[in-house]
Amino acid sequence: MAYREWRRRDIYRRLAKEEGKPSRSYYKLREVLDQYRFIPRGGFVIDLGCYPGGWLLAAAEEVGEAGCVVGVDLRETTPPAPNVRTIVGDVREHRVKRELQWLARGRADAVLSDLSPKLSGNWEVDAERTLELAFEALDIAKRCLRRGGAFFVKVFEYPRLAEFERELQRQFVRVIRLIPKATRKGSRELFILALGFRGRRAKRRLLQRTRLS
Ligand SMILES: C[S@@+](CC[C@H](N)C(=O)[O-])C[C@H]1O[C@@H](n2cnc3c(N)ncnc32)[C@H](O)[C@@H]1O
Repeated sequence: MAYREWRRRDIYRRLAKEEGKPSRSYYKLREVLDQYRFIPRGGFVIDLGCYPGGWLLAAAEEVGEAGCVVGVDLRETTPPAPNVRTIVGDVREHRVKRELQWLARGRADAVLSDLSPKLSGNWEVDAERTLELAFEALDIAKRCLRRGGAFFVKVFEYPRLAEFERELQRQFVRVIRLIPKATRKGSRELFILALGFRGRRAKRRLLQRTRLS
């Protein structure tokens, strides 16, 4: 299919323009939220890799006026709603992790990650870098989530993905693979929704049991 034709058929991109949403990604998160309702009204949400703000807007709608969404990106992002605050920074930096931890105080209801590295064009390199960012996002989720909280993350179908999923299964009660309708045709990206964070105390108990046995 010619590139122009492909663009013409990209309905979600056009819809985003028509409806004034910051990006087509808005519809990916909207669809998953409509199905799983994992962000509570009045909740606190962290969005990693938030520019240009599609997920920020969907999360802000979900938490409502009483809730709050904090986004982080390398690029400056204009908050798309009054209950959104954005931070410019690299999620791998200690400074950024500390700031998020301080804001969340272990009470975040959800951590979202749509982090994407600058694409090199080499499939393996890009998939590996995306997975590294997903591990960084998981590290932030472990520091910030409350017990029972949710983690929603973008990854690519890739051999080392199994390692990431095993770690998610250790940390969360339920782990679900998803491909929202708004995902670009032919894309190898997929999303993982992990529900029911077991919490830091659960981890300590597990360590104690391992030491005793
Ligand atoms: C696909 S875009 C996010 C789209 C966004 N979720 C939306 O709904 O509009 C991925 C973003 O990840 C950001 N990113 C990549 N590496 C990052 C890092 N190390 N720290 C912070 N942001 C990063 C990029 O700057 C880019 O804006």
